Amino acid sequence: MTAFNVSPIRLPNFSRRIDAAESSAVREILKVTEKPEIISFAGGLPAPEFFPSAQMAEAFHHVVSTDGARALQYSTTEGHAPLREWIAQRMQAKGIRAEADNILVTSGSQQGLDLLAKVLINAGDKVLVERPTYLAAIQAFSLYEANFITVASDDEGMDVDDAERQLRENPDIKLIYLVANFQNPSGTTLGFERRQRLLQLASQYGVRILEDDPYGELRYRGELLPPIKSLDEDGIVIYLSTFSKTITPGLRVAWLVAEPKIYSKLVIAKQATDLHTNTVSQFAVHHYLTNNDADQHITKLRGVYGERCRVMLESLAQYFPTGVRWTKPEGGMFLWVELPSHLNTSQLLPAAISAKVAFVPGAPFFANERPQNFMRLNFSNQTPERIELGIKTLAEVIAQSELRNAA
Ligand SMILES: Cc1ncc(COP(=O)(O)O)c(C=O)c1O
Repeated sequence: MTAFNVSPIRLPNFSRRIDAAESSAVREILKVTEKPEIISFAGGLPAPEFFPSAQMAEAFHHVVSTDGARALQYSTTEGHAPLREWIAQRMQAKGIRAEADNILVTSGSQQGLDLLAKVLINAGDKVLVERPTYLAAIQAFSLYEANFITVASDDEGMDVDDAERQLRENPDIKLIYLVANFQNPSGTTLGFERRQRLLQLASQYGVRILEDDPYGELRYRGELLPPIKSLDEDGIVIYLSTFSKTITPGLRVAWLVAEPKIYSKLVIAKQATDLHTNTVSQFAVHHYLTNNDADQHITKLRGVYGERCRVMLESLAQYFPTGVRWTKPEGGMFLWVELPSHLNTSQLLPAAISAKVAFVPGAPFFANERPQNFMRLNFSNQTPERIELGIKTLAEVIAQSELRNAA
């Protein structure tokens, strides 16, 4: 029973934006898969057993007890100045020419996506995204009634030849959105030449790039690649990153890097949205970063997640039927599985959940046409033992569905 009766009064319609938006399939599925008996490869969750909980408890206690008057007060929209300094230095170490004045602290990178769309997108404006792309970016841009132009991707990320064709055919594209490192959902990484070429295309066609990089620190093998932003001489790239995957997502502390012209617009948009990011979280994150060895923590996460990724890849090779393909990520939290085209992963999901294993069907990660035979698997949130068991179970569910199809 709900708390309110359905109102007999005829109230005005909802906005066109919200009526057109779909509720997130992932969030709906997560509700079912929260049960501990289900081996869930569905969520995009970091491993909670490796959260630096004691250090964060100390950080919150310290900032509230020694500096509560500021830590619990309203603060500036741009973000806590010492934290912005710390982030700017971190960005410089990655080759990004950013000062604290270019850093806007956001309430999660998700807010960065929303703010950028708010500042750039009018109804019907074209945004170029990969096929597949991050589902919550589709959701954020959709709320501003973006018109998606999609480009193919392969094991090396966005197909830049296809991107060039789309830019030529659609000179009014306003924004290119991509996750260059260990993409969500595919786990693939954009190669170095493609990074250079995409930037050159963006400047040739006068389009901004939104480089969303929550996973860049989580590389387990292969060579480190420079962010596209570090190659950007013209100030056309907006770079997003977050502490969600390297400290904890519940803090909701992230940042964006932008040139002054768009930065000032983003600040206005943020002011209207939430005034500023949670002050006490920003103080605590800064205290944590300056009083602990954050890099050592990230190194530990790389070891744990790298091992989980390896176990998932080995289990897929051992148990999955022939005719199934999957990506081989060098970092991040996800890999992407392609089943034979006659299989439908949304239809497979109830059987998988009955067998106590869960994944996310791939369809919502496509902005326009939605093939049905993909699934995203998360490997960061389950132990190696449960990963092996879950993949074995999932392989059986797929094999049974193939048998039913054949009958
Ligand atoms: C590609 C991508 N962008 C943004 C986000 C949102 O991150 P945050 O927790 O900082 O809002 C995620 C989270 O999973 C993500 O995968």
